[in-house]
Amino acid sequence: MLVAPSILSADFGRLAEDVKAICDGGCDLVHVDVMDGHFVPNLTIGPVVVSSVAKTATKPLDIHLMVENNSFFVDLFAPLKPKYISFHIEEEKHPHRLIQKIRSRGIRPAIVLNPHTPPESIEFLLADVDMVLLMSVNPGFGGQKFIPSVIEKAKRLKALIEQHNPACLIQVDGGVNDKNIDQLKEAGVDIVVAGSYVFGHIDGYKKAIKLLS
Ligand code: DX5
Ligand code: ZN
Repeated sequence: MLVAPSILSADFGRLAEDVKAICDGGCDLVHVDVMDGHFVPNLTIGPVVVSSVAKTATKPLDIHLMVENNSFFVDLFAPLKPKYISFHIEEEKHPHRLIQKIRSRGIRPAIVLNPHTPPESIEFLLADVDMVLLMSVNPGFGGQKFIPSVIEKAKRLKALIEQHNPACLIQVDGGVNDKNIDQLKEAGVDIVVAGSYVFGHIDGYKKAIKLLS
């Protein structure tokens, strides 16, 4: 299992130290939650702060857009050369065009599904993306409770992926911890995002990452 700590739960007063610590602690990706206050009821960080994260991080960035105007935000973040940019299907009228735009910038495109969105809704986009992110909480905040129906959804998505694009990865985001990690592994999930679990772990970030991987 690959682990992508979400810096939403980091200490923003010492963000560089926290980014360095998760990278030194063995994380695989640095997950960055971008919220615009419209698609979700919260605001986070823009390219000014994320460019400083990119300078410190020794692992690739994984940018999760929770915004209304995806194309505009792709233009803002593409110069930072993240490994992935993921966007919500619920907020995109022209997903295929956006996927092509992300790929044309040398970035791997990924689609995010909210808890209510069925995996079948993106069946004919699977061939074009490198990853699908399943939300296991309602997007907007860290520290929420895991929604267990994501397990069944991951299994259904895995079957569709095997049919259309076996190289496509499955990522799960929200409420991930050491209690649900085994179920996620069994369901075929490749990458977990974890914010409060990693940054709040009593034994430190390295141990928390190890317990999920
Ligand atoms: C929620 C974000 C998540 C969040 C996860 O909208 O997409 O990445 O930071 O935080 P935890 O792991 O605390 O649920
Ligand atoms: Zn996220």
